[in-house]
Amino acid sequence: MSPRLLAPWLWLAGCGGEPLQRMIEQPKLEAYEESPVLARRAPPEGTVPRERRFFAPEVRTGLQGGRPDAGYVERNPLPISRELLEKGRRRFEVVCATCHGLVGDGQSIPARNMALRPPPSLHQLSQRPDGYFFSVITQGFGLMPSYAADIPPEERWAVVAYLRALQLSQRAALADAPFEARRKLEQGR
Ligand code: HEC
Repeated sequence: MSPRLLAPWLWLAGCGGEPLQRMIEQPKLEAYEESPVLARRAPPEGTVPRERRFFAPEVRTGLQGGRPDAGYVERNPLPISRELLEKGRRRFEVVCATCHGLVGDGQSIPARNMALRPPPSLHQLSQRPDGYFFSVITQGFGLMPSYAADIPPEERWAVVAYLRALQLSQRAALADAPFEARRKLEQGR
């Protein structure tokens, strides 16, 4: 027998007589392939993911009634609690402080190195309504990107609440502090 005729016999013997079917060649539907059985159907109209949370339009947008022409929501729609402020602080320090500085005064290393428009101090903007800050985080502002994908709506409001606390901290009078805190501040001098 010549070696040319022997070779296929050896190959079949190694695979138990049946050549293996490679997965890539098995019958299946490829993504976007046209098919009568539909590999991936569009969900029925009106279907929503079970984990999606619902928010009133103003909570979702920071705009009154969620309408672009109606102006910003004046006050944070979430009840302000210590827990909310702490949540806001965590997010602020991880995300916003990178550019706007830990106390929001625009002092940060990236700010020093941004040649075009450095991140401003957020203390100059204390006259702006709460919805304005929410909307800047949601939509971005000039060179600042949107952080909507990183920070869910409730936490964006938490950031706004913490930002208010930061603004207040930079212009509060000693008399505004509670008695205990005032005593500590006076002793610290
Ligand atoms: C990557 C850097 C960066 C991060 C992170 C960032 N910002 Fe900004 N932010 C900027 C820059 C730069 C501007 C100015 C953009 C311009 O004028 O084009 C700006 C502008 C703003 C303004 C608008 C100021 C105005 O003039 O009205 C607000 C409010 C603001 N940022 C808040 C935030 C908050 C809150 C966060 C965190 C959720 C945040 N930023 C995260 C860089 C950043």
